[in-house]
Amino acid sequence: MFCKINSCGLLGINAFHVDTEIEISKGVVDFTIIGLGDAAVKESKDRVRVAMRSSGLRFPDAKVTVNLAPADIKKAGTLLDLSIIAALLTATGEINADLSDSVFIGEASLGGEIKAVSGVLPMTILSKREGYKNIFVPCDNAFEASVVDGINVYGVKTVRDLINHFKRINVIPPQKKYIPDETILRNINDFADVKGQSVVKKAIEFAAAGGHNLLMLGPPGSGKSMLAKRIPTILPPLTFDESIDITGIYSVAAMVDKKNPLITRRPFRSPHTNSSLPALTGGGSIPKPGELSLAHHGVLFLDELPEFNRSTLEALRQPLEDREITVSRTGGTFTYPCRVMLVAAMNPCPCGFFGSSKKQCSCTDAKKKQYISKISGPLLDRFDIQIEVGETDYESLASARKEESSEVIRERVSKAREIQSARYKNTGISCNADITDDIINEVCVMTPEASEHFKTAFDSLGLSGRAFARILKVARTIADTENEKLIGKKHINKAVNFRTLDRKYWSN
Ligand SMILES: Nc1ncnc2c1ncn2[C@@H]1O[C@H](COP(=O)(O)OP(=O)(O)OP(=O)(O)O)[C@@H](O)[C@H]1O
Ligand SMILES: [Mg+2]
Repeated sequence: MFCKINSCGLLGINAFHVDTEIEISKGVVDFTIIGLGDAAVKESKDRVRVAMRSSGLRFPDAKVTVNLAPADIKKAGTLLDLSIIAALLTATGEINADLSDSVFIGEASLGGEIKAVSGVLPMTILSKREGYKNIFVPCDNAFEASVVDGINVYGVKTVRDLINHFKRINVIPPQKKYIPDETILRNINDFADVKGQSVVKKAIEFAAAGGHNLLMLGPPGSGKSMLAKRIPTILPPLTFDESIDITGIYSVAAMVDKKNPLITRRPFRSPHTNSSLPALTGGGSIPKPGELSLAHHGVLFLDELPEFNRSTLEALRQPLEDREITVSRTGGTFTYPCRVMLVAAMNPCPCGFFGSSKKQCSCTDAKKKQYISKISGPLLDRFDIQIEVGETDYESLASARKEESSEVIRERVSKAREIQSARYKNTGISCNADITDDIINEVCVMTPEASEHFKTAFDSLGLSGRAFARILKVARTIADTENEKLIGKKHINKAVNFRTLDRKYWSN
């Protein structure tokens, strides 16, 4: 008796279709699984056999062969258990239904329960795209799968429930569609809480408007972390496609919130300074996305930047530029997306008070130099906007004056983003930070006066080619916030001023 059941596998964050084929024939009693499965797939045999017995079913006294096709792609994890069970039940006649338009995903426990697995969202999206009508997933993953429109999702609790469903003894109702709760979009952190700091806030607004990387440098307690946490609140709302993109990554990382499975807020990830490189970029024996990918379409905040391992920081340079990370493992090579806005904060020296008007710095020159040099020139170069965050004075902190809310700032940011979206339509570029070398001169046109001013600054400050391009992109953003087609002198001037920290702190 031969039978075929539809299932899925995962490669990095991408799902692929798997045919679970089963052949039950006379011969020496045996149960084998072939088709390039890892250890967890091989152990499926024991889980499935015991789960069937616990569900009051007889495992066939025959030669049972399961083939997982395509046989040349590695299958990992436990998610194929449910498809093997469905195949066994169909081949033995326990289930007598047409399952050709259904997909089965889930792990079996020895007691016959179906346990949650990771990556259900990308697998549901794939199944829908491939035209399947139904997907059977573990009960705990059903809500997550229900964010995908156009496919019936059935949450399976136990092997028995699956049989009863197809025998029509107790039909599993399709999972109700998840509709995001509007109230969870309310901001907990708001720029209205930050007193004063108008210059810094404006720089942050420019960074958000163009998706530029931002470095904040200042003494302890000046509000750097406070400001960084509020950046996602002024970024434009996620589109549905972006939401699905991010949720897919969280699904693979098994980090989807059970109650609110669709991620509707821009991520803000703030990894600890002692995070390892794999924790940041992704990897591991069962590969999972790292912090960079978990911040996809959002903010990656590296607080206390010099405290990170220097070689770890250097390894981030390329993925940040490429907007994706490639991780090689024995199981294959995986590519994870990481379109992030990088925000970093640091003190100017180990005691934190170098340059402070309030306290005397107690660091020696050598200590200061050692500290600041943890941030290499090329890494510093990747921060389009570099700003000093000074201490807020007493009057501002104690003032009852209402500060501008995140919502008001976000409206301006969104307007500037709309201009960019129209300009970069069908180019794959989403904001000014992504402008590629081939179009930079075409989209960043300066007035003659601006060009003259930029040339003088370029020569007198000894700027690099990369600095040239980055200043031009930031100037493009500043001009966009004013709805100006041409980049003017004042825009160039502001953009150049956002790159002066290196001369103050990094030069000897
Ligand atoms: N401009 C401000 N308006 C309101 N509160 C402020 C402001 N600046 C600082 N604070 C208060 O100071 C606290 C500390 O700020 P924060 O942790 O952001 O400082 P920091 O610059 O990150 O310091 P460190 O360098 O030590 O990490 C904030 O949580 C907030 O309560
Ligand atoms: Mg801080």
